[in-house]
Amino acid sequence: MAMCLTRNAKGDMMNGKRILLVIGGGIAAMKAPQLIRLLRAEGAAVTPVLTQAGAQFTTAMTVSVLAGEAAQAGLWDIASEAEIGHIQLSRNADLVVVAPATADLLAKMAHGLADDLASTLLLATDKRVLVAPAMNVRMWHHPATQRNLRTLRDDGILFVGPEDGDMACGEFGTGRMSEPEAIVAAIREELAPPAPLKLLPESQVRSGALAGRHVIVTSGPTHEPIDPVRYIANRSSGAQGTAIAAALRDMGARVSFVTGPAEVAPPEGVTVIRVQTARQMRDAVEAALPADAAVMAAAVADWRIKNSWAKKMKKDGSGKPPSLEMTENPDILAWVSQAGARRPRLVVGFAAETNDVVAHATDKRLRKGCDWIVANDVSEGTGIMGGSENAVTVITEDGPEEWPRMAKNAVARKLAQKIAGVIG
Ligand code: C5P
Repeated sequence: MAMCLTRNAKGDMMNGKRILLVIGGGIAAMKAPQLIRLLRAEGAAVTPVLTQAGAQFTTAMTVSVLAGEAAQAGLWDIASEAEIGHIQLSRNADLVVVAPATADLLAKMAHGLADDLASTLLLATDKRVLVAPAMNVRMWHHPATQRNLRTLRDDGILFVGPEDGDMACGEFGTGRMSEPEAIVAAIREELAPPAPLKLLPESQVRSGALAGRHVIVTSGPTHEPIDPVRYIANRSSGAQGTAIAAALRDMGARVSFVTGPAEVAPPEGVTVIRVQTARQMRDAVEAALPADAAVMAAAVADWRIKNSWAKKMKKDGSGKPPSLEMTENPDILAWVSQAGARRPRLVVGFAAETNDVVAHATDKRLRKGCDWIVANDVSEGTGIMGGSENAVTVITEDGPEEWPRMAKNAVARKLAQKIAGVIG
């Protein structure tokens, strides 16, 4: 195919970045050519992928010419599979964008279905995925779609739109795809490199240095219900998270304190948001954004019961115990660390380890994408879990920094000072 479009870079915001653009089937697919045009004008390379339905609303020829590369469409295309392969396609991108994201595509993503090229690469990708939903208002509000949206948010999928307005079908409401300019703005924010953290030495941090700053602190355990009266929990007392919230407050910060059912009472003078489960904690953190920093000290349960019982479980006389099926909880720290434009400037995670503390925590910092990890050894005999003292190693991009053993309140004050050195 002859490609005659030359790169017409207006700016260099997206220079060298590659967007894999999945175009779903809906009337909003008509806006895909304009989206490609705008992205290319900012210097991005665009690989278009058309679903079968998408190709009914815009043509492979149009999007290929505008992208300057052939649109990918089939999963069973031997030539393209040999040359590049659908897994590679998703790995080469800096960001995967789905616009329009139809109810059907979102449902497939939520359930991990992979029966065409678009859904297969969405399942295979290890990159961030930004979706621009577009559908009829009733489809948007349908409980099935809303359930899928919750799942996708838990999975860390990013959203732009939809907007309210007139629909092609003559109805009015939520479901219009965001305009290409708004989608480009969201992409720009996702691709923007994080500003490097500048750290003031502790001696130069003023008291009240955090005045006007907003910090989210998570704390305590989560309770994951088995049935209305039983739950899965852990031994976190919430002591360290509470002390950190109080220390940040003392330095003038506005603190949103998202706490599971902890033993320790929350501090005065902070906004307390009480939650039970990991999913509620994630939603509360999301609702508290934007923030200048997030300190995730909660001991969030990694798993919950897949289908918790609506009524109290009872023995049925068979002698057979019920079997509990578990499913993974959202990783709030990883999610907030990768929240694109909404990411706080500083994200601090915790790591309670029982062996090879520094190695595991260093790995965790990279895996979760946070700025610092406060790591401690909670193995038996240290007396740290549930105790009043803590011995931590703070891992930053400069490597590990071992702090002497001290009271949890003192760790909190030292950490608040260090945080103020960045966002104060
Ligand atoms: O992976 P691990 O649970 O050891 O990571 C600990 C850190 O991750 C803590 O900062 C904790 O608050 C956070 N976390 C989270 N959501 C989860 C699990 C852990 O925010 N589901």
